[in-house]
Amino acid sequence: MVALAEQFDVVVVGGGPGGYAAALHGALAGLQIAVVEKERVGGTCLHRGCIPAKEFLETATVHRTVVGAGDFGVLTDAPTLDFARSQARKQEVVDRLWKGLTGLLKKRKITVVNGVGTLGPGRTVRVDDGTELVGRHVILASGSVPRSIPGFDPDGRLVMTSDDVLSLERLPASAVVIGAGAIGCEFASMMRDLGTEVTILEVLPKILPGCDQDVTDVVLRSFNKRAIAVRTGVAVTGHTPEAGGAGTTVHFGDDEHLTVEAVVVSVGRRPLSDSLGLAGTGVEVDGRGYIVVDPYMRTGEPDVFAVGDVVATPALAHVGFAEGVLAIDQIVGRAVVPVDYAKVPWCIYCHPEVAFAGHSEQSAIEAGFDVVTRKDGFVGNGRAIIVGETEGLVKVICEKLPDGTGGRILGVHMVGPWVTEQLGQGYLALNWEATAAEAAHFIQPHPTMSENFGETVLALTGRGIHLG
Ligand code: NAI
Repeated sequence: MVALAEQFDVVVVGGGPGGYAAALHGALAGLQIAVVEKERVGGTCLHRGCIPAKEFLETATVHRTVVGAGDFGVLTDAPTLDFARSQARKQEVVDRLWKGLTGLLKKRKITVVNGVGTLGPGRTVRVDDGTELVGRHVILASGSVPRSIPGFDPDGRLVMTSDDVLSLERLPASAVVIGAGAIGCEFASMMRDLGTEVTILEVLPKILPGCDQDVTDVVLRSFNKRAIAVRTGVAVTGHTPEAGGAGTTVHFGDDEHLTVEAVVVSVGRRPLSDSLGLAGTGVEVDGRGYIVVDPYMRTGEPDVFAVGDVVATPALAHVGFAEGVLAIDQIVGRAVVPVDYAKVPWCIYCHPEVAFAGHSEQSAIEAGFDVVTRKDGFVGNGRAIIVGETEGLVKVICEKLPDGTGGRILGVHMVGPWVTEQLGQGYLALNWEATAAEAAHFIQPHPTMSENFGETVLALTGRGIHLG
């Protein structure tokens, strides 16, 4: 138990990626840090997001691999799914990472206080168990929760959020997924691979609305091939539970309906700022619930920062990380540069995977660039053929030079096998403002899937080996 009004260099409210990155980074710099967390440290990412979702997606990959094993001459019976075992493995993965994080916080002598923290004047954080902590600085990192839509109140059974899906013991036989963003596409892909009949309903004209069209087309083709029904440009209006509660009928579009066992609502997340107190402070919250910050994550209250999903920046764990580090670096007086949100990496782990950074072709044109693009499909890549995963491509968008070749790299977009592990060099090239020629100078190991990036930038210089 922490003594009343204990003083710290930094009090962090929220122990997710934004908060724990700040705490670990700050402690390493010699700061006395307290973290207030109402559940287990690790946040959405570790307990209800990135880690458990990717663990289930890996289960789907293992299942697909076993189904296709005969192509390699490895003969097996058709796999059956014990989702309860898969659920247990997911929890083992989460618990192992949670123990590692807890141990690291302890080793760095960070005080973790369990409870809901609210910020009042004088950088005082009151925890609901009566503890009072005063920080020379405060970092608000309270995160976000799934958003719902009218007519679809989550009940954890017929209407589920991502939180609910991640704790299922059995997958539904059929499901409607509302929203085809990162979560919707990941869950649709995972559930379909594990046997659920899936229909996606997306209100916008395309799935993965933020992605380059060539990337979206590949994902859509794959979804179609795997009998994931995709309906875009449709609005959902409500649902009618069946008598007996075994399923529900979803109403959408022009008087259309579909009866399924469960509905998954994945229409975005909302910031969790309403339980932060803030009365009597200069911290401002906008109409959507986001804490208002400047590019240095500073709120309107002196020495109070906000980072992660509670601010209106991309809701990605690694962005929260970067913001937490940015706040601490200022506290210890280091020179800093703000996060360049237009160039952060994005990875979506549906099958096929998606990974990108920087402008899509369309957004580069809309931003006024004269662009030249090249793409290289995995269909000709030796490693991809060996692995048996040739769906997908690498696309690089460059500023067009007067001779028509590619100059500065504006965007790198990938879809296909293991691309979430391949984006790194494209991300570095983009953020170092490399030209196609500079990136093309480097050798790619052979045979690897990363040769596609090398070939694409080489082709942009007019010197492609395989691409003309
Ligand atoms: P999202 O904002 O990425 O996508 C939500 C989708 O729902 C959009 O396509 C939107 O047009 C659609 N939508 C909204 N209202 C709708 C309605 N009434 N009917 C039908 N469609 C509707 O949000 P998502 O996928 O829930 O993810 C939440 C956050 O978590 C995002 O910021 C995302 O970037 C992040 N995240 C990132 C992941 C990754 O990087 N791998 C994985 C999961 C989440």
